[in-house]
Amino acid sequence: MADKIQLLKQKHAEAEQGGGEKRIAAQHKKGKLTARERVLYLLDDGSFEEIGKMVTHRSNLFGLDKQKFLGDGVVTGYGEINGRLVYIFAQDFTVLGGSLAEAHAEKICRIMDLALQNGAPVIGLNDSGGARIQEGVVSLAGYADIFYKNTQASGVIPQISAIMGPCAGGAVYSPALTDFIMMVENTSYMFVTGPNVVKTVTHEEVTSEELGGAMTHATKSGVTHFTYSNEIACLEGIKKLMQYVPQNCEDALPQFAYEAKDEKRPKLNTIIPDNANAPYDMREVIEELVDADSFFEVHKDFAENIVVGFAHLAGKPIGIVANQPAFLAGVLDIKSSQKGARFVRFCDSFNIPLLVLEDVPGFLPGTDQEWNAIITNGAKLLYAFSEATVPRITVITRKAYGGAYDVMNSKHIGADMNYAWPTAEIAVMGAKGAAEIIFKNEINEAADPAAKLAEKEAEYAEAFANPYRAASRGYVDEVILPEDTRIKLITAFRMLETKAVKLPYKKHGNIPL
Ligand code: HXC
Repeated sequence: MADKIQLLKQKHAEAEQGGGEKRIAAQHKKGKLTARERVLYLLDDGSFEEIGKMVTHRSNLFGLDKQKFLGDGVVTGYGEINGRLVYIFAQDFTVLGGSLAEAHAEKICRIMDLALQNGAPVIGLNDSGGARIQEGVVSLAGYADIFYKNTQASGVIPQISAIMGPCAGGAVYSPALTDFIMMVENTSYMFVTGPNVVKTVTHEEVTSEELGGAMTHATKSGVTHFTYSNEIACLEGIKKLMQYVPQNCEDALPQFAYEAKDEKRPKLNTIIPDNANAPYDMREVIEELVDADSFFEVHKDFAENIVVGFAHLAGKPIGIVANQPAFLAGVLDIKSSQKGARFVRFCDSFNIPLLVLEDVPGFLPGTDQEWNAIITNGAKLLYAFSEATVPRITVITRKAYGGAYDVMNSKHIGADMNYAWPTAEIAVMGAKGAAEIIFKNEINEAADPAAKLAEKEAEYAEAFANPYRAASRGYVDEVILPEDTRIKLITAFRMLETKAVKLPYKKHGNIPL
């Protein structure tokens, strides 16, 4: 008996050693934790239960018979984050570079099956040299199995990917199919083809970091939703994200303590500048509206003309989509439409109510936008809002112009409540542009065209640069004092808690991709 127990202990120790001390030291030297260290940091103390610890690969090709590691380069199992069940896999770069092949993929698939069957989030910590070259096509099959399961799980359980090392080739598509990607600056990268192939094919000289580092994907491609300066901050980011998402699409949202007190926010009466074209930071509005320190911004550095993120309102999670007048005047363009649409769909998938803060001068004009399909991309946001059945409230703080008024969660596309501040301007376009078009002849023929334009501009502004015409039609439910907005939102979201809407039967819709 004793020797058998000893053998078991030995095997546990061997599995926990991963690729061995030397490779662990190399991992640490790069500023990276091992897979096991990451898992243990992320999960509540003592909650991690490992699955498949003794699994090894079954290949004897290219010397693999002499390179068998217990666990096959991925630590898998389940545990808890703040008492909530999650399933997790963490690729172990110290074992064959965390490369993925048959057994490694089977372990990940098993975790994903369990997560889906039991309705709990799945978290993937990626750190891998990609397909295990020695195992050939079975590695590709393993990836495809994972992609398929990612897609099956999409919209059923939250899927979170952290990239904590290399993630290249087709391997990038599993994270891309999940709901959120987090990257660590300087130690992680993602690309379909690396710098060497790029150089051969396009003759571009580019480093891994420039091509697919965290900041590249945060600012240029939008592939990553979050970036962190180190791995600990990234793991904390996962814990934070968990505070806003449910276990699955049928589960209740997490609730946080909330004590009702004075909910007036007088600062909101002072944020909108007197000059309708002057910028202000919509984040200031958000911070005033939501529970203290609860705003968790998503895609912070990408398409900054729209702000999206989670927050708690009276202790309950909401998703926020807000035009940002401090960046490109808050205009809608291709990237901001994509960013907004993706976020709206996530929230709707997981029953997270939506708050829209609107100050939008319209869509960005130009050949770049038109030739790159602002039509199709703007339609994504329109479609995402239109099909969302979660409680949806809009607050128009200032401009709501043109098609962008319709798109930004207007009553016409299904918003439940639409509030406007007295500073709201709801019109087809800005007063000057409108006057130039409809009074063109009168202005041109006037003795003083500039004075005539100013007069007509003022006329149009008086008619439309306010919320009352829209309110008279019921497009705006109420014009409210900015300082009362938080109270109105808490009350209205409470009223909408039992909202139940059924979409017409369909296999699935055809969002303009
Ligand atoms: C098997 C691999 C491996 C791989 C790394 N290793 N990648 N083993 N298959 N894909 C092993 C190395 O042999 C080494 O083993 C250990 O992992 C660490 O690798 P190093 O090269 O020493 O580390 P580093 O210098 O940090 O470089 C990391 C790296 C590099 C940039 C990831 O290893 C690399 O370029 N690997 C190959 C990447 C690749 O081409 N993968 C296939 C992509 S195509 P020892 O024993 O020395 O510790 C793909 C298709 C997926 O993934 C398709 C899905 C549809």
